[in-house]
Amino acid sequence: MHGLHARLPKTFDLEERLERYADVIEKNPESLRGHWAEACAPVGAAPFSRVCIDLGCGKGLFTCAMAKAHPDALFVAIDTEPICVVYAAGHIDETGLTNAVVVPGTGMKLDAYFAPAEVDAIYINFPTPFPRKRQAHLRVTNSERLMQYRNVLVKGGIVRLKTDSQPLYDFSLEQVEAAGYRFLWQTRDVQEAFPDDIPSEYERRLGAQGAKVLGFCITPGEAPEHFSPTEHGSLVDYLPEDLESLSYLPHGMESTIQNMINRKHKKGHHHWRNVPQEP
Ligand SMILES: C[S@@+](CC[C@H](N)C(=O)[O-])C[C@H]1O[C@@H](n2cnc3c(N)ncnc32)[C@H](O)[C@@H]1O
Repeated sequence: MHGLHARLPKTFDLEERLERYADVIEKNPESLRGHWAEACAPVGAAPFSRVCIDLGCGKGLFTCAMAKAHPDALFVAIDTEPICVVYAAGHIDETGLTNAVVVPGTGMKLDAYFAPAEVDAIYINFPTPFPRKRQAHLRVTNSERLMQYRNVLVKGGIVRLKTDSQPLYDFSLEQVEAAGYRFLWQTRDVQEAFPDDIPSEYERRLGAQGAKVLGFCITPGEAPEHFSPTEHGSLVDYLPEDLESLSYLPHGMESTIQNMINRKHKKGHHHWRNVPQEP
């Protein structure tokens, strides 16, 4: 998570915490491929009836709240950042939950971690937007990823996205079409549509800062006959023309948008100075 390193207490020992919470950290997710529901069930208990993923879990508060609310399901929290992994593991450990684990891994490889038809739901809350064109392959909602998620989802399984980023959302809508999913719902105001949803940490924080949360829930439809990955562009292409109309700057694109507005103003100013004086 951005900026977290700077706020780490001096005594924070990453390795020590990885060790301390080893019981709820699954370092070798490939070894559980096809067996998550049985392998993660408490000794002597029946296998979990569902496997759900919290992709890009951050500190794991959403994972824990969901796991508490749905004791029949196993929640697998995944994050690339070791610091997030230990925070999420710490929360699971403190809460005493037996139906949540953390994977230090990446959403790029879900089909290496999970077998076909093993996953019931993939929750994606406030994914890192990776706005630049050259980072587009890292967006967890691009069509290649959505095609990969199809491989691991059960029939009728879902992918649910929530984001504060209108550009990422509009980009993602196109990807959903390309990967042959069907919308179960889509809304540009999640809080209004689902006021009782369990919020993620970012949802709570950015919501309090005035973000409208955009979201959708999709399920695989007919697979595209000939899927060929298209080139993905910069998220700047998805911004509205009238930047000044934005009442909220999406997380991760604040400075880009501010620079664009400043440039436009400078240009406007330049133009204005060159307007011939009225006689
Ligand atoms: C903005 S945070 C959101 C955290 C949390 N989901 C929430 O809503 O509070 C995005 C998280 O996604 C993680 N992330 C980015 N790319 C990822 C990837 N390819 N696979 C898994 N996690 C990723 C980041 O490390 C970060 O913790």
